[in-house]
Amino acid sequence: MSNKPTLLSLLGALLLLGSLPALAEVDGQQLYRQHCAKCHAEDGHANTLRGWLYFAQNLSKAKWQDNNSDSDILEAIQEGPGAMPGYAEKLSETEQLVVVRAVRDLRKP
Ligand code: HEC
Repeated sequence: MSNKPTLLSLLGALLLLGSLPALAEVDGQQLYRQHCAKCHAEDGHANTLRGWLYFAQNLSKAKWQDNNSDSDILEAIQEGPGAMPGYAEKLSETEQLVVVRAVRDLRKP
């Protein structure tokens, strides 16, 4: 973590997000549906054709959610592991952070 200052500052921004109504207006779920659902499915189960083809991660699994920190998720969004495209250029930092939240909301008990 210590060698990732930008990631850390992004996380700081993430913590702030909840208390900043202006930023909260960026709709993470809408962004998720637009950019991520084709592979990971709207509910995160990744049971779409592309999800199967690319072995996309099931993002709703409680165990996966427990094993991945917000910065892990942010890193995946920015860099795009495996067959997943990276979104560092396609989404603004604010958008990336609200999508992290949308991914958290996919959690199933
Ligand atoms: C083209 C299909 C595709 C799209 C679009 C896509 N992903 Fe992925 N995603 C994948 C695949 C495939 C993996 C698994 C890669 C691997 O395990 O090597 C993955 C993995 C992940 C992971 C988990 C990585 C891990 O370490 O377990 C996260 C989080 C994730 N995606 C979030 C997103 C989000 C958020 C979006 C939208 C901004 C998105 N993905 C868009 C295919 C996609």
